[in-house]
Amino acid sequence: MIRIDSVTKRYPDGTVAVDRLSLEIPDRSITVLVGPSGCGKTTTLRMINRMVEPSEGTILLDGADITKQPVNTLRRSMGYVIQNAGLFQHRTIVDNIATVPRMLGWGKERARSRARELMERVGLDASLARRYPYQLSGGQQQRVGVARALASDPPVLLMDEPFSAVDPVVRKGLQEELLRIQDELGKTIVFVTHDIDEAIRLGTMVAVMRTGGHLAQFAPPAELLSAPADAFVEDFLGTDRGIRRLSFFPSAGLELLTTPVVAIDSTAEQIAARGTPDVPYLLVTDVDGKALGWSEPKDLTAGKVVPERLLPYGRPFESGKDSLRAALDCAVLSPTGWAVAVDGTGRVVGVVSQETIGEAIRGAHAERRKADLAG
Ligand SMILES: Nc1ncnc2c1ncn2[C@@H]1O[C@H](COP(=O)(O)OP(=O)(O)O)[C@@H](O)[C@H]1O
Ligand SMILES: [Mg+2]
Repeated sequence: MIRIDSVTKRYPDGTVAVDRLSLEIPDRSITVLVGPSGCGKTTTLRMINRMVEPSEGTILLDGADITKQPVNTLRRSMGYVIQNAGLFQHRTIVDNIATVPRMLGWGKERARSRARELMERVGLDASLARRYPYQLSGGQQQRVGVARALASDPPVLLMDEPFSAVDPVVRKGLQEELLRIQDELGKTIVFVTHDIDEAIRLGTMVAVMRTGGHLAQFAPPAELLSAPADAFVEDFLGTDRGIRRLSFFPSAGLELLTTPVVAIDSTAEQIAARGTPDVPYLLVTDVDGKALGWSEPKDLTAGKVVPERLLPYGRPFESGKDSLRAALDCAVLSPTGWAVAVDGTGRVVGVVSQETIGEAIRGAHAERRKADLAG
């Protein structure tokens, strides 16, 4: 565990970048430092690997003061990833990744084979190994940066706005990859960002900092959303707090209806049996069980669907895997007010109304309150 104990950083010009910060960073999880530009995130991160020395206070790594060990030993136990990757432009990708193992005295072949293994781990095609950084996209370069930081298998990874310079779609891919890597390798990651959504997506714990290097709140993301400590945190979290919080509630408990689902090759009797007064629309699927669209029962003739007459079903959610937020979004997007649930292969497993989702949300709140009261 990394423990930051009442740490202050005053730069020579008098700027107090970090002010009596105390944080316990748990092992094998992602702790995010988030806050507006200039609030002291980078300074905090750099004090952990001693690129910046604190003016006051101590930082402990597994109980030991980090100033009591040689700085090189400390840094070897901490991979460091920055924005724009900071790659060596004159070295190939494979040699960039092999940098630290080579410094540690590994032979060239062993270091390169380790580098190739890491390329695969971070989702880089082996064919890129001999290229130079400028021949890669921003997202690919960022993956190289992560691979390089992982090369000597350090227990700790320090990441300073690593994905801030890439576009939103690529960033999402990088975030997913980081969560996957974290799942597999169980590193202790300290991740800096100014993007609250990124913090909520990645963090096991999130430290919200405010200008002047003050800690405003340190909590799991769901708790930040449900109980911001003050007006600053609430403002920083932005709008739609309630909706966003639903992403921490699973859709697994939703009661799905299969009665309103008919295959396109159903007989007239089968179709007639499906339409009930409380279900004004039927979801039509193809013979493989993939959704085609919603139809009023009267517009359905057996084996014949006029595609133009079908209402779109919006975007389905994956039952059990996606959250209540995804399910609600599907229901809101659907012109019938019903969300379509699919399995991992895209086959329809049932439909669920906005009302049912609303009940599930109220139920989840009640459960959470009970758990909070109990513990
Ligand atoms: N080397 C330095 N000398 C003086 N002031 C600095 C130095 N580095 C950062 N600062 C100041 O410290 C504050 C925090 O900076 P920083 O840790 O980089 O914030 P963040 O990463 O959250 O944007 C800012 O006001 C910044 O201008
Ligand atoms: Mg910074």
